[in-house]
Amino acid sequence: MAKIIRWGILGTGKIAHTFSTALKSLPQAEIVAVGSRTQASAEKFADVFDIRQRYSSYEALVNDADVDIIYVSTPHTLHHENSLLALNAGKHVLCEKPLGLNSRQVEEMITTAKEKKRFFMEAMRMYFYPAIQKAKSLVESGAIGTPRMLQADFGFSATFDPQSRLFNPQLGGGALLDIGIYPLAFAQLFFGKPMHLSGEAILGKTGVDEQITITAQYAGEETAVLCATLRANTESAAIISGSQGYLRIHREFWRPEKISIISGRNLTEELLEFPISGNGMEYEAQHVIDCLTSGKTQSDMMSWQVSRDLMAMMDTLRAQWGLRYPGEK
Ligand SMILES: NC(=O)c1ccc[n+]([C@@H]2O[C@H](COP(=O)([O-])OP(=O)(O)OC[C@H]3O[C@@H](n4cnc5c(N)ncnc54)[C@H](OP(=O)(O)O)[C@@H]3O)[C@@H](O)[C@H]2O)c1
Repeated sequence: MAKIIRWGILGTGKIAHTFSTALKSLPQAEIVAVGSRTQASAEKFADVFDIRQRYSSYEALVNDADVDIIYVSTPHTLHHENSLLALNAGKHVLCEKPLGLNSRQVEEMITTAKEKKRFFMEAMRMYFYPAIQKAKSLVESGAIGTPRMLQADFGFSATFDPQSRLFNPQLGGGALLDIGIYPLAFAQLFFGKPMHLSGEAILGKTGVDEQITITAQYAGEETAVLCATLRANTESAAIISGSQGYLRIHREFWRPEKISIISGRNLTEELLEFPISGNGMEYEAQHVIDCLTSGKTQSDMMSWQVSRDLMAMMDTLRAQWGLRYPGEK
């Protein structure tokens, strides 16, 4: 019989609900515990997902002997502290993106995972969608000739609330860490780590980046233009162009169901469809289960090095913009 992986959910916000819904549909997953800052919230969440153990602290959750892996779903500023808490208690960890606030935090988290010999992964759900994997294999197989350029954007018009995690610097607010990470990770998947990276940012009333444009140049002379905004509803699509055509990842490119290959003398379009099962987080969750079942401490699809590279890029961009979060030196 396939091994059942026992999950503990740390934090009871929006994405914890989506991820737990996905886990409930997987035969190899069981949610055995939830931890919240308050008992009331833990109880409410546990009632929705039929979870036995409900804790009013994250400490109690990570010390539950029945839990194999902790899903960290708190605001960005807590990912470092919460992941270390879980790893040091001997748990495997799947931590929401971005893995931390900066490279110093990410390095410490990876070092701890290595020392404790525990699985640790940044929850970059985009990498696990069938459409994204198909796009990668099409580009690698030469479907658009030699890949040269890439464009990707992620934007939505958020209601301004200085206290919310999107705008509050105390919670790591801003477009880059929350949604800009997706275009960056998308380009990383196809072109690797850039040699040159620069960006423009519009900083809002709370001092965080509300709208950004990034340009990047890669080792093989590929280039990318990547945008993210909390101020406009954008198409949220991606295009990879090559010497013999281009690939369009239809909206929303970070959880796509459709890609088009436009190629040939007349640039004819072929549409490929990949209907998502459930809410789409099942692919990432199943990948983590497969990694744990086979005894891995890191994913080969979302490796520690990819997380390091992504965070180094975001450090570089924030340094260009003079954007530091409270407590950062
Ligand atoms: N992969 C994806 O598609 C995706 C989508 C959305 C968000 N995310 C990531 O998931 C993380 C959480 O996002 P979310 O939208 O779920 O946020 P959210 O709805 O605000 O939930 C965050 C949860 O963290 C806990 N928390 C602990 N300290 C907190 C504090 N000082 N302020 C607010 N909440 C605090 C709370 O749970 P308790 O009260 O139970 O402790 C809260 O419900 C973010 O890092 C984000 O980047 C990922």
